[in-house]
Amino acid sequence: MRKIVLVTGASAGIGKQTAMYLAQNGYTVYGAARRMEKMQDLIPYGIKPVELDITKGESVEACVDQIVQEAGRIDILINNAGFGLEGAIEDVPIKDARYQLEVNVFGAMHLTQLILPTMRENKYGKIVNISSVGGKVAFPLGGWYHASKFAMEALSDSLRNEVREFGIDVIVVEPGATRSEWGTIATESLLTVSGHTAYQGLATKTHTLFTQLSNNIQEPIEIAKLIKTGIESSRPKTRYAAKEMNSRILLFLRAIVSDKLLDKLIMRQLA
Ligand SMILES: NC(=O)c1ccc[n+]([C@@H]2O[C@H](COP(=O)([O-])OP(=O)(O)OC[C@H]3O[C@@H](n4cnc5c(N)ncnc54)[C@H](OP(=O)(O)O)[C@@H]3O)[C@@H](O)[C@H]2O)c1
Repeated sequence: MRKIVLVTGASAGIGKQTAMYLAQNGYTVYGAARRMEKMQDLIPYGIKPVELDITKGESVEACVDQIVQEAGRIDILINNAGFGLEGAIEDVPIKDARYQLEVNVFGAMHLTQLILPTMRENKYGKIVNISSVGGKVAFPLGGWYHASKFAMEALSDSLRNEVREFGIDVIVVEPGATRSEWGTIATESLLTVSGHTAYQGLATKTHTLFTQLSNNIQEPIEIAKLIKTGIESSRPKTRYAAKEMNSRILLFLRAIVSDKLLDKLIMRQLA
C-alpha cells in the first residue's frame, strides 16, 4: 500500500525537492505551503498541492482535514516549512522573534498534534522534523533562528519517547548550508535588522560568511535522500546530519570541544 506523505514547505528548496523525490519513489505526496502558484510544477509528479499557512490554526486544521478526507490517513509527516530570521537578539523586534518561533516551532507542533491521533489509531507513523546543524551550534546574530531549531531538537527527543509505543518514529534531519530560498531571506533580515546598528560589524562579517557558504553549498536532493533513508529504515537513527564537510566539522567540534573554545573558533571563522 502506498504511504501517504505530507511535506510542508513544498513550494521551494528542500521541501519541493523532497516532495518530488518521494513522489518519484512510490509515495503519495501532499505538498503544503502558502504560495500555491509555486507548487503547480509539482502536479505532473502526481503531488497534490494544499494551501497552508502554518501560523494560522484554521489553515493547519483545514490542511489535515482535507488530506484525511481524501486519503484516509497521513502516514508520514515531514515538518520542513521554516525560515531563518537573522539579526542581533537586541535588535530583532520581539514580535518578529515570536513569528520565527510560530513558523518554525509552534506551527510544526500544531500540525503534529493534529496528525498524531490518526497515526496512533493506525499504529504506524513517521514524523521527520527538519532541524539544522544550527540546532546544535549557535552563531551570533542567528539567536532566534537557533532557538527555534534547538527547540525542534528538544521537542523531537521528548516526542520520540512519547509515541514509540504507538509504532511512531520521530526522526530529526539536520541540513547544513543547502541551495534554497533560505539564504536570500536570512541575508535580507540580517542586513535590515542589524546592518545599521551597534552590531553592524558582526552583521558585515556574518554576511561575508553567508557568501562563502553559498559558494560551497549542498543541493537539496542530498537532504531529500537523507529523509528517504530515515523513513524507510525499520529502526531509524534519531538524527541524520548533513554529510557535507562544513557541517561535519561543526558537529564534530560541538561534540568534543568546550563552549569557550567553540566560541573562539566561531569568532575566528567570522573574522
Ligand atoms: N537551506 C539551508 O541552508 C538550511 C539549512 C539548515 C536547515 N534548513 C531548514 O530546512 C527547512 C526548509 O528550508 P529551505 O532551505 O528549503 O528554505 P526555502 O527554500 O526558503 O523554503 C521554505 C519553505 O517554507 C515555507 N514556509 C515558510 N513560511 C511558511 C508558513 N508560514 N506557512 C507554510 N509554509 C511556510 C515556504 O513556503 P511559502 O513561502 O510558499 O509558504 C517554503 O516552501 C527549513 O526548516 C530550514 O530552516 C535549511
